[in-house]
Amino acid sequence: MLLNHVSTVFTAYLWQQTSFHDVVALEIETFWGALASQRLSWISPFNTVQNCNFSQGKIKWFEGGKLNVSVNCLDRHVHTCPERVALIWERDEPGTEVKFTYRELLELTCRLGNLLKRLGVRRGDCVTLYMPSCPLAVASMLACARIGAVHNVVFAGFSAEALADRIRDTQSSTVITVNQGVRGGKVIDLKRTVDQAVQNCPSVQQVLVAMRTENSVAMTDRDVPLEEEMMKEDVVCEPVTMDSEDVLFLLYTSGSTGKPKGLVHTQAGYLLYAAVTHRYVFSYQDGDVFGCMADIGWITGHSYGVYGPLCNGGTTVLFESTPVYPDPGRYWETVQRLGISQFYGAPTAIRLLLKYGDEWVQKYDRSCLKTLGSVGEPINREAWEWYHRVVGGGRCPVIDTWWQTETGGICIAPRPSDPDAEIIPGMAMRPFYGIKPALLDAKVVAEPSGAGWGSGALCISMAWPGMARTIHNDHQRFIETYFQPYPGYFFTGDGAYCSKEGYYQIVGRLDDVINVSGHRLGTAELEDVVVCTIKCVYVFVVLKKGVEVQEDVLAQQLREMVSRNIAKYASPDYIQVVGRLPKTRSGKIMRRVLRKVVERKTDDLGDLSTLDDSEAVHEVIRGHQRLH
Ligand code: PRX
Repeated sequence: MLLNHVSTVFTAYLWQQTSFHDVVALEIETFWGALASQRLSWISPFNTVQNCNFSQGKIKWFEGGKLNVSVNCLDRHVHTCPERVALIWERDEPGTEVKFTYRELLELTCRLGNLLKRLGVRRGDCVTLYMPSCPLAVASMLACARIGAVHNVVFAGFSAEALADRIRDTQSSTVITVNQGVRGGKVIDLKRTVDQAVQNCPSVQQVLVAMRTENSVAMTDRDVPLEEEMMKEDVVCEPVTMDSEDVLFLLYTSGSTGKPKGLVHTQAGYLLYAAVTHRYVFSYQDGDVFGCMADIGWITGHSYGVYGPLCNGGTTVLFESTPVYPDPGRYWETVQRLGISQFYGAPTAIRLLLKYGDEWVQKYDRSCLKTLGSVGEPINREAWEWYHRVVGGGRCPVIDTWWQTETGGICIAPRPSDPDAEIIPGMAMRPFYGIKPALLDAKVVAEPSGAGWGSGALCISMAWPGMARTIHNDHQRFIETYFQPYPGYFFTGDGAYCSKEGYYQIVGRLDDVINVSGHRLGTAELEDVVVCTIKCVYVFVVLKKGVEVQEDVLAQQLREMVSRNIAKYASPDYIQVVGRLPKTRSGKIMRRVLRKVVERKTDDLGDLSTLDDSEAVHEVIRGHQRLH
């Protein structure tokens, strides 16, 4: 009865998108409740579907339910289709891919789970992973889930300091890494970075080291050779019974102020949301090969590289290389060789590739492609058109997906909808099932749903299963960041526009978070390292009085500092020395104005009425013109 109802709601939404919100407001519990029963394997059923209160920052789904995430991602598929390919590891060197069936991945996960247990890792302990996208990284995540540990994947491009910060915040006693990474033909000494990081992390008792390359690395008493020890373990590991709201993982992301926040995702709600969005947003069907290009160090890699596809019994690609290695045809050669059906990438890569011309795409057979996804930042029209026309040959819908580390999964995307429903270039368009966006400003509250339209701060008015539950060790910050700016709503930090038809377009961050090549960076974090920075990354430097330094020497030093302390991709592209910065009367730097200067939009500086001294702006503009 319940299930019938859900399929009716589902179908109703698929074909009559506009009325869904009204249905869902009334039926949300029935809807998600039935999906949870239908799509997940439970050890014992849940008692309540949701128990959420935004003002307290309380988000709970499927309370009372017991399950194991690794069983949902592995064992149940091993029972039905053990030899189906779960992972395709697309290694750096083209043509050297390695496939893992569900049976093999379960065995790997169990061995690792047993090893972690032998090394003393217990339910609730946090394990930090500093690894490139590879099967052992996926198995490590799932092994944590199997034994009830919490994983904390740190992007393997982060510096030793950034890694150490995250290890310290989680108090991890175990770190898993590889001897070296391989990317774009280059060898990267990841173990060395871990060695540097753990020097300042007293909590770390052991570092498990997998061998990605054949080169030996210095091992200490603390280090455990992963493959060697793992092979001593049994291929069966009893899954631990977890509560729906036990923590599954932490993932750090930049905030507008202070240090990065460790967002907490829990078991059942996150998994269900990742799986359902994966299936419906991308129209994923059995037999498809899902190609998510994101690294597992980001939420995209977690939800659409690992949990969503595996929960659905799908085949997922782990991409280790870069879009231009060994040449700019790499993505499309991979699509042809692996038979990728859904390609999920970032606008920054698309923009880079379109500059190399169409031949690099046309050389390869892309007839296996069905859907092209985009994520991480707005996709500009030129990139959208090229992706659609050249890559997809005009055949495949381009799905611009808006979401965040905090949302756990996609919240706004052109699909699901009627297969023929229009898609407007550069627009994320339609809220997913049960997502109720609202565009707010301080005075006016408007909830566009077909009739209403306009722009404002993008908020969401109802809880959904995939949303983060808290910030690790700082629930107050969770409440202040997401629920206090607009009481009764979850505030995303982004600005958006809604058309008369009810289609959403994401405008960009409203706070001091900047987006560099699809990576989220907090200006506060950068400012800890340099003094001030703004988009792309363009750094304005105010020298202390009396300091004299050659600008190119300074630029070199700043770049090195940022690469060392945060990551290479955060390194400033431009550096401009200025006498002072435009500030408000209360002393806040007007970054919005600096951004306009850099974008050469000085005739559109916006409201300057709170500016303390307008001459500061003119000085910056003159300096910028001199330099560029
Ligand atoms: O500003 C939005 C931008 O990326 C932010 C989230 O970053 P992160 O937590 O690292 O997750 C990235 C992958 C989900 C958002 O607040 N963003 C993400 N997707 C889009 C986007 N901006 C515009 N359009 C998108 N499709």
